[in-house]
Amino acid sequence: MPLFDIHLTVNNIPTKVAVRPQATLLDVLRDALGLMGTHEGCRVGECGSCTVLLDGKAVNACLVLAPDADGRTITTVEGLEQDGTLNALQQSFVKHGALQCGYCTSGMLMTATAFLGEQNNAVAEMQVREALAGNLCRCTGYTKIVKAILAAGNE
Ligand code: FES
Ligand code: FES
Repeated sequence: MPLFDIHLTVNNIPTKVAVRPQATLLDVLRDALGLMGTHEGCRVGECGSCTVLLDGKAVNACLVLAPDADGRTITTVEGLEQDGTLNALQQSFVKHGALQCGYCTSGMLMTATAFLGEQNNAVAEMQVREALAGNLCRCTGYTKIVKAILAAGNE
């Protein structure tokens, strides 16, 4: 199978990756770049555990073909920290105990990052719950996750 090069900027670092035509962005992030914070769940766009930002928009990395990411900017959960410190949203997750097994957490953080980045006013609980509709958590019941996002969005 021939490989061809794509160019990405991942967490502010320009990179070149040789990919198979059918590889997904999820494959590139985990297998080629070793960014294991982006989790693989269903691989069919149902669970949201693979959510990353593609040019600032939340996407399921399992549904993006790697060639379609050529020339674009990706942020993964590893890119959220600031100078080695958890950012405000991550700290809010910690403060509110918004995780149990943690498998969904990176996807939740990336969806919430995109959501909060689009808000100009105070954030309401129903908006947060709607924003999380594509992210499944089998552990928490969502209450603490929603509280953490509300706190980060309204502080
Ligand atoms: S692994 Fe991508 S949505 Fe489930
Ligand atoms: S904390 Fe376990 S799946 Fe969400």
